Amino acid sequence: MTDTAGQAALPPGDAPPLLEMRGITKRFGGVVALENVSLFVGRGEVVALIGENGAGKSTLMKVLGGVHQPDQGEIRVESAAVRIRSARDAGRLGIAFIHQELTVLDNLDIASNVFLGREPTGGGPLRLLRNGEIEARTEVYLKQVGLTVSPRTSVARLSLAQKQMVEIARALSQQARLIIMDEPTSSLTPGETERLLAVAKDLRENKGVSVVYISHRLGEIQEIADRVVALRDGRNAGDLPRGDLTGAEGNSRMVRLMVGRDLAHAMDTASRDAEADQETGPARIEVRGLRTPRYPDKAVSFSIRSGEVLGFAGLVGAGRTEIAQALFGVEPALAGEILQDGTAARLQSASDAITRGIYLVPEDRRHTGLILDMAIRENVSLPRLSRFATSLGWVRRGAEREAASVTCARLNIKSAASRVHEEGADRLAAILDAPASSLSGGNQQKVVLAKWLALSPKVLIFDEPTRGIDVGAKAEIYALIRELARGGVAVMLISSDMEEVLSISDRIAVLHEGAITGILDRSEFSQEAVMRLAIGDLSGTTPISIL
Ligand SMILES: Nc1ncnc2c1ncn2[C@@H]1O[C@H](COP(=O)(O)OP(=O)(O)OP(=O)(O)O)[C@@H](O)[C@H]1O
Ligand SMILES: [Mg+2]
Repeated sequence: MTDTAGQAALPPGDAPPLLEMRGITKRFGGVVALENVSLFVGRGEVVALIGENGAGKSTLMKVLGGVHQPDQGEIRVESAAVRIRSARDAGRLGIAFIHQELTVLDNLDIASNVFLGREPTGGGPLRLLRNGEIEARTEVYLKQVGLTVSPRTSVARLSLAQKQMVEIARALSQQARLIIMDEPTSSLTPGETERLLAVAKDLRENKGVSVVYISHRLGEIQEIADRVVALRDGRNAGDLPRGDLTGAEGNSRMVRLMVGRDLAHAMDTASRDAEADQETGPARIEVRGLRTPRYPDKAVSFSIRSGEVLGFAGLVGAGRTEIAQALFGVEPALAGEILQDGTAARLQSASDAITRGIYLVPEDRRHTGLILDMAIRENVSLPRLSRFATSLGWVRRGAEREAASVTCARLNIKSAASRVHEEGADRLAAILDAPASSLSGGNQQKVVLAKWLALSPKVLIFDEPTRGIDVGAKAEIYALIRELARGGVAVMLISSDMEEVLSISDRIAVLHEGAITGILDRSEFSQEAVMRLAIGDLSGTTPISIL
């Protein structure tokens, strides 16, 4: 890769920046994750940090948040050199961190999560924060993030999106001067995303708070960023001022900085493929009158043909994931029939489904998709370990590694290990033997995909497959989904990304509160038609084939 190491720009204005990070280098073992990276953030400035999966964004922010110690470089806050050894140090400096992977504790209620670590310490009456006060204060912050539930609600009962809001409320409660948001919207609905962006703008404009905003969604960045700082392969790749961000031109500028070249628009390519692949076979999977525990009074029916991508659109909580779980056998249906290739399929457990070639790429990769402590190689080969086992039960490492390397290469799974060991077998071994936890968020997602790939699936269920995935990798995943379909796989694609579902699907089933409100053919596709059905409005004039 050519070295276009851009210079990190200082924020505009004469005042010293709130934050100066200079020459930050961070190695993990022999692996260089960050090399001589600089970042400056002004007061009340929103700086968007962009880069491909594995570029080093989260690592840079973890250095700032006290999670990692840099090997070299200096950090200044309001001109004073600081050492940030822990999250507590960061907090004292007014730096709050909203992590890419949620860190709220499920077994506590909201108020306790918001004030975690700052509960009453008994150090005198003035420092004593009474429970009632904690509740009252929590309520104020919840209001600011638009969460209308009691502060005493257990976090375990909240949706992923609501938990995210609790994290933001926690940052607000810390009176932070700088809030780091690492992919805060990747699990939010469009409405919640708007609210979050509004909260961030309010922080900047009315409270003078600075924000470092990490996202793969360039539209959001165009909306909110005062400046963009791009990282590529652990180095600064260049900055863009707000004026250079707007429109399609701004979009291409950001992509070019991140990947170092122009990219064909992933959506366009996927659309063209979907357009071209009109051949579909007989119904591979047929669902009749399926009822899930979440919506026991709604029966759902649909079929997916071999070679077809059936998109599932709808608002978060519409019941799409529940249908996927019933198909995969992990949350058996209450009633209804599932037929595979015309014969009834009993799907009482995930192993029933796997035996039949039905696989699920889940939404929450941290809990159900990956074993973070295990090597990447083991994660990839986990579902088909028996193939690599000898008669004595030993795993044939060579075969396992080879299979894993083929799939990883196919998905272009990158880890920092690939940067030090430039050549051959060493490099591959280093990548595959590293624990899954050492991969960036987006690359972890790709490992989950890799797991199912070489298994010759018959039915593949994708639940939000590109959440947190960078632009280049998205294109790869779309191509892969279309390729799988071309090979005869029936694909169920759950996605909240409107553009995504419109581009790669052959048909789209739209759900509203547990019921399918319509199934659209490609000729009926439009953002408006999908939205209308998603909010349960059936009065429109667009022809809709209701099941
Ligand atoms: N604890 C760790 N041990 C070893 N390597 C690590 C560790 N944490 C991160 N890395 C490596 O450092 C590099 C940068 O990862 P990082 O998580 O910062 O990427 P990112 O830009 O946030 O990507 P994404 O968009 O996928 O979240 C990656 O190659 C990753 O494999
Ligand atoms: Mg990250």
